[in-house]
Amino acid sequence: MMRIGILGAGNIARTMARTVRGMGARGDAVQLYAVAARSMERAQTFAAEWGIAKAYGSYEAMLCDPQVDLVYVATPHSHHAQHAMLCIEHGKAVLCEKPFTGNAAQAEAVFAMAKERGVFITEAIWPRYMPSRAIIRDLLEEGVIGRPVLLTADFGGDIQHSDRIRLPELAGGALLDLGVYTINFASMVFGTDVERVESSAALLETGVDHTESISICYRGGQIAQLMNTVLVQTPSVSAVYGTEGCLVTDSIMNPKKIDIYDRSRRLVRSVTVPEQITGYEYEVLACMRALDSGALECPEMPHTETLRIMRMMDDLRAQWGVRYPFD
Ligand SMILES: NC(=O)c1ccc[n+]([C@@H]2O[C@H](COP(=O)([O-])OP(=O)(O)OC[C@H]3O[C@@H](n4cnc5c(N)ncnc54)[C@H](OP(=O)(O)O)[C@@H]3O)[C@@H](O)[C@H]2O)c1
Repeated sequence: MMRIGILGAGNIARTMARTVRGMGARGDAVQLYAVAARSMERAQTFAAEWGIAKAYGSYEAMLCDPQVDLVYVATPHSHHAQHAMLCIEHGKAVLCEKPFTGNAAQAEAVFAMAKERGVFITEAIWPRYMPSRAIIRDLLEEGVIGRPVLLTADFGGDIQHSDRIRLPELAGGALLDLGVYTINFASMVFGTDVERVESSAALLETGVDHTESISICYRGGQIAQLMNTVLVQTPSVSAVYGTEGCLVTDSIMNPKKIDIYDRSRRLVRSVTVPEQITGYEYEVLACMRALDSGALECPEMPHTETLRIMRMMDDLRAQWGVRYPFD
């Protein structure tokens, strides 16, 4: 039985709570065991809402509990490194929300510490762990759209008013919150052999990016065109165009349906993913497999890939003049 402790009782922590509860109910060997918040009152309210046995009024207190096997870090991006390192210090395996950290230097420090202490850690970038990933890969390998040449992906919503998005001290901006998904999609389809990255961005008055367009050009000649914004809702979907047709997903974050069109734009195939709880269960299952086998990272999202994407996001922010106080 893997016992999970949630660190930070905010918005996304609720989705994880619902997920783990659902996994327990269907018989997975996982238990929603503890929650920690910066105040005992918040922790207790959260624990009562989700039927969690242990509530802790400080993160450190939960990390001292020997029963906790895996900690889900669900705090703002700016605090992931600090909180992940606190977990590692206490020898706790970590599933850390995306983006892994606020910048690449922080990610390097976290990975170095995890390696030194022999502690498991992975980034909770959920599309990497979901069945949709293998479905898309298999369809492309099968050649259903011929040779993929171009992909587009967008992610946008009106989320500009939350502090987590607006403030540089919380590592705000569209890139780290939403762009991380579009970049990950491009990486899953076109790989890592990047020749150059071109981009433009518009900034909020707080100095973080609110809207951007990013072109990733690959040595094989493929181009990924990515768009992110925290000002308006966009379709938030992706498409891959090939010499024989195109593959379209219905969501960038959690694709449930993948459609294949031929060169005459006729729908020729539609694949749906297996029924899911929330879609987060796959990253939890990946952690269970890794911990069972004694691995220190997940093959679905190797540390090198998390680092490569953090470095790409650092470079993009440098192009736009977006700096965080901790950079
Ligand atoms: N996978 C996804 O689909 C998805 C979706 C949304 C968000 N996320 C990620 O999850 C993380 C949290 O997002 P969220 O929407 O859950 O944020 P949120 O509701 O604002 O919650 C963040 C939690 O972080 C804790 N925290 C610790 N130090 C803090 C500080 N200095 N300032 C503010 N909060 C602090 C607070 O917990 P306590 O006060 O309770 O301790 C707060 O409840 C982000 O990294 C985000 O990218 C992922």
